[in-house]
Amino acid sequence: MKLLVNSLLLFFGILVVESTTARPLSYAIWAANSAIARGQGNGLDSSGKPLVSYEHGELQWALRLLFERTKNQTYYDYIKTGVDNVVSANGTVGGGYSTTQFQLDPIRVGPTFLYLYERTKDEKYRVAADAFHNQLMFDQSRTAQGQFWHKKIYPNQGWLDGVYMGDIFYAAYTQAFQPNNVTAWDDITLQFTLMFENTIQKVATPNHTFSGLLYHGYDYSHTTVWADPDRGHSPEIWDRALGWYAMALVDVLSIIPTSHPGNAAILTILRMLAPRIAAAADPTSGVWWLVMTQPGRAKNYFESSGSAMFVYALLKAVRVGYVQDPDGTIVAAAKKAYRYMVNNWVVDNGDGTMNWLNTVQVGSLNTDGSFDYYVGVPTVVNDLKGLAAFALASIEFEHLTY
Ligand SMILES: *[C@@H]1O[C@H](CO)[C@@H](O)[C@H](O)[C@H]1NC(C)=O
Ligand SMILES: *[C@@H]1O[C@H](CO)[C@@H](O)[C@H](O)[C@H]1NC(C)=O
Ligand SMILES: *[C@@H]1O[C@H](CO)[C@@H](O)[C@H](O)[C@H]1NC(C)=O
Ligand SMILES: *[C@@H]1O[C@H](CO)[C@@H](O)[C@H](O)[C@H]1NC(C)=O
Repeated sequence: MKLLVNSLLLFFGILVVESTTARPLSYAIWAANSAIARGQGNGLDSSGKPLVSYEHGELQWALRLLFERTKNQTYYDYIKTGVDNVVSANGTVGGGYSTTQFQLDPIRVGPTFLYLYERTKDEKYRVAADAFHNQLMFDQSRTAQGQFWHKKIYPNQGWLDGVYMGDIFYAAYTQAFQPNNVTAWDDITLQFTLMFENTIQKVATPNHTFSGLLYHGYDYSHTTVWADPDRGHSPEIWDRALGWYAMALVDVLSIIPTSHPGNAAILTILRMLAPRIAAAADPTSGVWWLVMTQPGRAKNYFESSGSAMFVYALLKAVRVGYVQDPDGTIVAAAKKAYRYMVNNWVVDNGDGTMNWLNTVQVGSLNTDGSFDYYVGVPTVVNDLKGLAAFALASIEFEHLTY
């Protein structure tokens, strides 16, 4: 096996690993199996209580792609068990889910409900998906422009994170049950375009490098402590927030019909951002800084979840043909970043599992949104937001190689 692995790696000209000895051919499978071995993302919290969690939704998205690629039933079963831990036999959603705070985060599990409904036709998954859709339709407040608030406690605030959390579900639900609802496709498009217009960096400032990328969020009322007086956006570009948004762009494009003008509008955004993301990578390591607006500043560091999300988004964008890459710059940037990741952030535990390093625990705009805030948050080993993103990045990387 080891010989085969080495010769395959040589054949495809990828020396992704320094020592191939204990490392498997597929990092996607290794990452997924390691998460499963640790019971991560299974619909339960660390004390075994049901939990509706966007991180679980993110892992489920990766496991679903891996199931479709490998046909290994283990991945499907893990997804189903995870959802069955939070959806009761009659379709009520437990696991701490409540509509009163209308948070977008839990909605990220919704695409898995739809996937299971499609495969099993078990009504309980449809009932559960309806509950999430009803939250968006009837509970979620919006800005005067129509952007969903991130949560009730953050009035008038749109965060990039929320697009990945809420709008992939909104699009997948519309595709499944209301494919001809133009109003819904308009509304989904609006969530992406408002976020883009309100957060895009237009000018450099003395302490902020110009990348033309998107600030973490904005406050339409311009009243919260971090809001820019002019445009209302937050002060820094945080890698993971932009990573969520970038993944949402490439994923929604495979859902929203090409016959609807929103598809072209979202494509335009992706085509502008993809080369800018590639260009923002640190030229030496190839990966991205936690606070992208202040590369190289003391205490800033290379962060692994945002970097993995960018690799997924860039490679998928080129593979599916959403973005042209005639001179190979974008794919080269993604491959360089990927090489750094496997060499620096993947640790072989020697028991068949791997650890994943350097994912920042959280980045919230329930703060002053400052550089000092972001760099003061600790990193966590095997944080699922980063590990699942690495599985996604690996799935895309492996599309390139075998
Ligand atoms: C499927 O994946 C599981 C790990 O998640 C592994 O133990 C099993 O051997 C795989 N099955 C096949 C047929 O590859
Ligand atoms: C659905 O199931 C849950 C949990 O088993 C239960 O609490 C709830 O009362 C049920 N609702 C209906 C309408 O049957
Ligand atoms: C179409 O979508 C809009 C917005 O999502 C929704 O309010 C409306 O009820 C939908 N109409 C139908 C017929 O499903
Ligand atoms: C600007 O950056 C310098 C160091 O690069 C730092 O000392 C200073 O506090 C920063 N100013 C602001 C307003 O963040």
